[in-house]
Amino acid sequence: MKRPIRKAVFPVGGLGTRFLPATKAMPKEMLPVVDKPLIQYAVEEAQAAGIEEFIFVTGRGKQAIEDHFDRSYELESVLREREKRDLLESIVGWVPKAGQVSYTRQMDPHGLGHAVRCAKALVGDEPFAVLLADDLILSKEGCLAEMVEAYNDVGGNIIAAMDVPQEHTKRYGIVKPGKDGERLVEVKGLVEKPAPAEAPSRTAVIGRYILQPSVFDHLDQVPRGAGGEIQLTDALARMIGEVPFHGLRFSGTRYDCGDKVGFLHANIAFALARSDMRGEVEAILRDVNKQL
Ligand code: G1P
Repeated sequence: MKRPIRKAVFPVGGLGTRFLPATKAMPKEMLPVVDKPLIQYAVEEAQAAGIEEFIFVTGRGKQAIEDHFDRSYELESVLREREKRDLLESIVGWVPKAGQVSYTRQMDPHGLGHAVRCAKALVGDEPFAVLLADDLILSKEGCLAEMVEAYNDVGGNIIAAMDVPQEHTKRYGIVKPGKDGERLVEVKGLVEKPAPAEAPSRTAVIGRYILQPSVFDHLDQVPRGAGGEIQLTDALARMIGEVPFHGLRFSGTRYDCGDKVGFLHANIAFALARSDMRGEVEAILRDVNKQL
């Protein structure tokens, strides 16, 4: 029996400079895709995977996230009075229960590895998940649920994996693959943001991780890596050989919502996936297409 994955860490301390001016006074994780903030998609994906405790690693100016995952009694009572049941459900159904959410501040922006390290005391000595809200995945089962299923089989560390164009390797952690099955690929090495010529493959790490708690010891030791930051990828590279380590080629489509065009793409794709919007959005796209 593998130890169950009960906790998930959401690093949300980033400044979101790529979305300025939109993110001057608003956390980038609160940017909506259609009508839901990015961070809510990530939390719902975690809930669908059986996660019970939600740990946010935040920073200054991120209070809107805390308010979003809290009750809003004023709104609730107005919607109840007006008998707007659907809207009421849309603001309460997914809010975690009291005691299930915790927040810690990253304080200094030293990178993703540093952000995850900040969650050590809250995670404790058990395997856990990490979800990056920038990576939005449209899929039936939910990417993390798929990973948990794979984890129950092989254990150890699991990362979400996806093949990317060679020229994009410098945007991602890249896997040096071992035995490569159809869905599970053995991770034999990991490099953070290699130049295309130096990349060991085109298989990239996407922002979903299931990690063993020993990652925290490695995070304490890794020197600053790519971009002068403490990289999660560098700590993970040290765990190869220590624990089973696999990449899961997840199903569904991933949208890079850390990028403006990727974010627009996600909005269109998610709107097209909604039966209440599809027709109108298709008509708009046909119209736009005529103008091209
Ligand atoms: C982070 C990780 C990188 C991973 C990527 C996925 O990079 O460091 O290994 O491939 O997320 O989105 P970032 O996008 O924060 O630069």
